[in-house]
Amino acid sequence: MNSPVYPIVWQENKVRLIDQTCLPGKYAVVEISRAEDMARAIKTMIVRGAPAIGVAAAYGMYLGATEIETSDRQEFLRQLDRVAEMLRQTRPTAVNLFWAIARSLKTAYETLGTIADIRAALLTTAQNIQAEDLQTCQAIGDRGLTVLPSNPQKLTLLTHCNAGSLATAGYGTALGVIRSAWRENRLTRVFADETRPRLQGAKLTAWECVQEGIPVTVITDSMAAHCLKENKIDAIVVGADRIAANGDTANKIGTYSLAVVAKAHNVPFFVAAPLSTIDFELATGAEIPIEERDSEEIYQIGETRICPQGVEYYNPAFDVTPAELITAIITEKGAVKPEQLPQLTEQVAV
Ligand code: MRU
Repeated sequence: MNSPVYPIVWQENKVRLIDQTCLPGKYAVVEISRAEDMARAIKTMIVRGAPAIGVAAAYGMYLGATEIETSDRQEFLRQLDRVAEMLRQTRPTAVNLFWAIARSLKTAYETLGTIADIRAALLTTAQNIQAEDLQTCQAIGDRGLTVLPSNPQKLTLLTHCNAGSLATAGYGTALGVIRSAWRENRLTRVFADETRPRLQGAKLTAWECVQEGIPVTVITDSMAAHCLKENKIDAIVVGADRIAANGDTANKIGTYSLAVVAKAHNVPFFVAAPLSTIDFELATGAEIPIEERDSEEIYQIGETRICPQGVEYYNPAFDVTPAELITAIITEKGAVKPEQLPQLTEQVAV
């Protein structure tokens, strides 16, 4: 097995990000030492995936703190609030981003002592969020094994987008479950939806599987229903960007239609996500903000324009899968039915 992929590495006072916009063609690393550059990296999806952008934003908070030139505590915190706001403006849907920024701000406000002490505490917070996410993903992977169907013994699993190492601190959520299944000899093959328009499945999930020797079949999104009808898929496992208190789940556009098709064919549909992805402040998925991205993502593939001039576009980056279509939500504390989520409330701490 190859060594795991870590999309975010803190090294020599810089954050090193794998540039996910270049994969799989080129493995490139971008060095970030300013909060503004981190915000741009999140917005342009150099770093992407809900837990990964949370980790990146926490480092962004630290980098921003190092750029503030004042010895006055109140002024420092005021400027740090502005850094937080800049990072919050990058992507609206994944709650991990807001969760990580809130945790960093709380650290800053609660750290007594000098500005240097606050900066040091912010770096520790970012490193803790990163280390915790890695452990969390490994736990999600292992918890997932307990709910995957036991028949057949070796499964073919379908996933959407990329909820792998690249989308987290490492290991992945949905792909973490798949990794654990592979490790335990419970997996025959993964089907990866290509995930239009940005192709995270075809590019990133496929790349991660190849790195690790996991057999992978890439299909276009429109082929999933046919594959389920042909009994090629034993279960579907996807990640999440934000889960409302009732279990409604926002994830990459196309997830909802997969869940509908899964229900129609009686195939279990699992969401794998850390507790930090659950937003107990939102009662239902109707309140989840859905990011809309540039129309160029639709009308252009690579350098080639595929649509005629004179048409309109609609490019929501996420959709919401209603809780009733979800078989179970797999968290680091165990797998629960969506309606059991409130029981996890006490375990979610900012
Ligand atoms: O737009 P992206 O690539 O950031 O969207 C990513 C997803 O939708 C993932 O499924 C989700 O963030 C879970 S990542 C563990």
